[in-house]
Amino acid sequence: MERIIDGHEQAGDDDILTLRPQLLSEYIGQENAKEMLGIYIKAALSRNESLDHVLLYGPPGLGKTTLAEIIANELHVNVKTVSGPSIEKSGDLASILTSLNEGDVLFIDEIHRLPSYVEEILYSAMEDYYLDIVIGKEGQSKSIRVDLPPFTLVGATTRFGDLSAPLRDRFGVVLRLNYYNPNELYEIIKRTSQVYETAITEEAAKELAKRSRGTPRIANRLFRRVRDFALVLGDGKINLEICRYALNKLMIDENGLDETDLKYLKAIISQFKGGPVGLETIAASISEVCQTIEDVYEPYLLQEGYINRTPRGRIATAKAYKLLGYSFMKGLFEEDIL
Ligand code: ADE
Repeated sequence: MERIIDGHEQAGDDDILTLRPQLLSEYIGQENAKEMLGIYIKAALSRNESLDHVLLYGPPGLGKTTLAEIIANELHVNVKTVSGPSIEKSGDLASILTSLNEGDVLFIDEIHRLPSYVEEILYSAMEDYYLDIVIGKEGQSKSIRVDLPPFTLVGATTRFGDLSAPLRDRFGVVLRLNYYNPNELYEIIKRTSQVYETAITEEAAKELAKRSRGTPRIANRLFRRVRDFALVLGDGKINLEICRYALNKLMIDENGLDETDLKYLKAIISQFKGGPVGLETIAASISEVCQTIEDVYEPYLLQEGYINRTPRGRIATAKAYKLLGYSFMKGLFEEDIL
């Protein structure tokens, strides 16, 4: 089993510790999820009960881990973080669950990747706070019942559709996280500039917000890179000029699309005549993994209207044609599209 990580360490960057807001009131955006959680947390606290299990789903980088930590913090309990695929044996799950204190939050990231036999023993833990564990070899095995303290499971997934119905049904609260709008990302970037004690002009923060693909994790990563450019090539302060220069060097286009987004759109348009074309065919042609395309790239391209999904495959929209015809990235391609 992978060691249990306490959430903050996951990103491999200590700065994340302060970048992550600790309270719902500090968390920017996702107004619906915040309002719902605020009510359920208050209700659980006033009844002195554990919060019902919460499932958070949506594209990567939108703050699922942060929300799980905020939930625990607002409930004044500890959070234990594990990733679905790291729980290989039912004993792994048993040792995690039995180490929880009453009311604690167990955060399982990538919960759609839990092995099915682990998932099955989770059902009784979620519903009635006990585990049935089978011990001993075949023929002499017996089942023992282990009682658990009431706890809150917070599950996170990028693939809601991959969860089995029995698991999905055991979450009392199901919340979808959406891409952030540029105003929300602007607020997040202002907050990041305070955490890093790095000045950024309003125009530069707006530019960064516009080019962060609706995703705080990307905004914060780009902030760190732009900060490097500002330090080495400028006076340490992030202005619009250095911001644009750095983002162009990083191959982030005016709309926040990166090289893979553009390769993907270019493949549909120039190799497959605009589609419809199947996911596997596109993936092979741009040497990407299907799952990454489906989880990371397509949701944003769909939302922004660059592609449509039809029963016969993906198609590029007029917006995608226009983009590739006029994008500054055009020069990188062998031929003009329009
Ligand atoms: N950092 C990353 N995501 C955030 C959010 N939604 N609100 C505030 N800070 C964040």
